Amino acid sequence: MKWVPISIFSFVLSCQLSTEPYKEGKFIYDKQCSNCHGINFEGLAKLYPAFEANKLSEFNRRKLVCLVKHGSLVNDTTNLNSVMPSFEKLSEIQICNVLNYIFEKHQLSPLFDLEEIRLQLLECKG
Ligand code: HEC
Repeated sequence: MKWVPISIFSFVLSCQLSTEPYKEGKFIYDKQCSNCHGINFEGLAKLYPAFEANKLSEFNRRKLVCLVKHGSLVNDTTNLNSVMPSFEKLSEIQICNVLNYIFEKHQLSPLFDLEEIRLQLLECKG
């Protein structure tokens, strides 16, 4: 019965089992994020920051997960003109896929797995 642990393992490693996680991440990004962050991550003037690989990699991973789920914390936005809305409707898998899409596009690693997303969401405050 070797296949049981192997299949559990591969589920934990990837965000989504059967379809292509990258495509789902891109779909969510283009539909729900690109109006502020830009289809090519360029941002929008001073309102919304452009994504940059070095900035993203310095970001605490838990903060990224919580930011997408719950939106900006007021304390984090004191020097910005705008806040990020929450995306409470996104599932754990969708958050995982959209963050991995952004990470892949910026050649960042390690990518997120579902287990990490779950654990980080449990620790979000505010
Ligand atoms: C209404 C505009 C808006 C939308 C829509 C939006 N964001 Fe944001 N986002 C922001 C703002 C403003 C910030 C900076 C605020 C902060 O750091 O608290 C931000 C910050 C971020 C960051 C932190 C990285 C950085 O360089 O600051 C990530 C990652 C991010 N957003 C991902 C997403 C994802 C994924 C979606 C779609 C599910 C999304 N955003 C939708 C406005 C938006």
